[in-house]
Amino acid sequence: MNIQRLAILGTGSMGKAILAGLVKSGFNPANITATTKSAASADALVAEYGILAFALENGDDANQMAVAGADVVLVAVKPAYVAQTLAEVADNLDDDALVISVAAGITIATMQAVTPDDVAVVRAMPNTPAIVGRAITGLSAGSRATTENLDTAISLFETVGQTITVDESQIDALSTVSGSGPAYVFYLIEQFTAAAQTLGFNAEQAALMVNETFLGASLLLEASGKTPAELRRQVTSPNGTTERAIAELEKAELKATFETATAAALARAREIASGNR
Ligand SMILES: NC(=O)c1ccc[n+]([C@@H]2O[C@H](COP(=O)([O-])OP(=O)(O)OC[C@H]3O[C@@H](n4cnc5c(N)ncnc54)[C@H](OP(=O)(O)O)[C@@H]3O)[C@@H](O)[C@H]2O)c1
Repeated sequence: MNIQRLAILGTGSMGKAILAGLVKSGFNPANITATTKSAASADALVAEYGILAFALENGDDANQMAVAGADVVLVAVKPAYVAQTLAEVADNLDDDALVISVAAGITIATMQAVTPDDVAVVRAMPNTPAIVGRAITGLSAGSRATTENLDTAISLFETVGQTITVDESQIDALSTVSGSGPAYVFYLIEQFTAAAQTLGFNAEQAALMVNETFLGASLLLEASGKTPAELRRQVTSPNGTTERAIAELEKAELKATFETATAAALARAREIASGNR
């Protein structure tokens, strides 16, 4: 990997998922510096990963100390703190450093405005399956980023899954699919499990059947190389029970429902971007 020293600013759920993926892939923890707000979080990172961690609670200059000497800086603080955090560390960033942000709704223009001209910016949108190494991360390169910078970002996120490179104009739309998508899947699992219980199964039985059905079907989809439509047809014998069930599901117009849901998420992303947090 083309990273000598990485600084992670804000090492909570997402920052930690990427940290874990990186360390698991063989990246030397001694070359990672992380920051958190609380000393307890920083101590826990040191104990678990053997990295260097600074807490803001122990000193206001934690982020500045972390970025010194880092060729790549991953910003994983909450969106509301991104511009302020980058402005605070701007003078401490290495020449030609690469800044990669995972913050939802914070544009490349906002980040480029508060960082020196020689600093490249890449915007990323991972999703929570990063925790199990199965993220899909959307990446957009800023105007100051080279192909090499983008390749570095790709290799970083490939330690927690797969990547897709898109124009920044598509990042919010991507977020409504893969960013929010795990929540849609969990919601479907919840509803299907509740329906299974109405057939007389207890909560544990229903959860086992539905969870394993989602997981098993997903693994089959991956392993078979077939499309979901082909696999569905294989389970659906003419005039059989599944065919009746699918006919009912079709009446629910799920495509239209997903279109409405993703449109609502996109509208909210635009509200957030215009300052309505
Ligand atoms: N979670 C997701 O599914 C997801 C998906 C895509 C993108 N993201 C993006 O990832 C970013 C982080 O989200 P998250 O869910 O990981 O949040 P989180 O779990 O709350 O983590 C935030 C981290 O930032 C630390 N922190 C707070 N203020 C800080 C500061 N001024 N300087 C340095 N560190 C600071 C916190 O320290 P303490 O540990 O001491 O509180 C914590 O470690 C957000 O911008 C979000 O949009 C998240």
